[in-house]
Amino acid sequence: MKEEKNIFPIFEQMLSRKDKEELLGQRGTMLWFTGLSGSGKSTVAIAVERELHRRGKLCRLLDGDNVRTGINRGLGFSEEDRRENIRRIAETGKLFVDTGIITLASFVSPTRELRDMARDIIGTEDFKEIYVCTPLEECERRDVKGLYARARRGEIKDFTGISAPFEAPEHPALAIDTSVVPLRESVERILKLLSL
Ligand code: ADX
Repeated sequence: MKEEKNIFPIFEQMLSRKDKEELLGQRGTMLWFTGLSGSGKSTVAIAVERELHRRGKLCRLLDGDNVRTGINRGLGFSEEDRRENIRRIAETGKLFVDTGIITLASFVSPTRELRDMARDIIGTEDFKEIYVCTPLEECERRDVKGLYARARRGEIKDFTGISAPFEAPEHPALAIDTSVVPLRESVERILKLLSL
């Protein structure tokens, strides 16, 4: 009888993450930004992506704008919908990380349970939690989208920080308060975290 192993020739084997990482000359990682609406998550993530790109690193930024209007269209802000929102983001993010891409996810992800789920899906090794810890008062003062005012008037239910909980991460890889830390410095701290 012919040996059963190595039955598939090499050209039929799927390329590995290592192959992709060698091609790109970088390591796939997930930078997971969590924090209140208006805390500055996306501003920091955008600046980090720009700087990494400038340094020749391939990145992918996932945020509400490209996710909640696309793969997660139709999901709201109930506990159940937020869980499904984060689950799909984590699964999608994992595909990018496994392609060797530095992936930045910018979502409120308000509870430890949600962030633990994301970490479990992506893998602890590849998951760096960045807590954008700008205080609620400052987020509300900024009120970039006018949502805090509407939530205070009772027009939006389950609004994180007002009528729905936000649980601060216990051991984030980094915590950044954008009301005191300049953008440039936030970027530097995150690059340092990546040993870049
Ligand atoms: S998450 O809780 O499921 O992680 P996500 O980051 O996708 O939230 O979306 C949060 C954004 O949606 C906020 O920045 C805000 O602009 C908007 N939003 C609309 N309704 C709510 C709500 N009830 N709670 C929090 N954010 C909301």
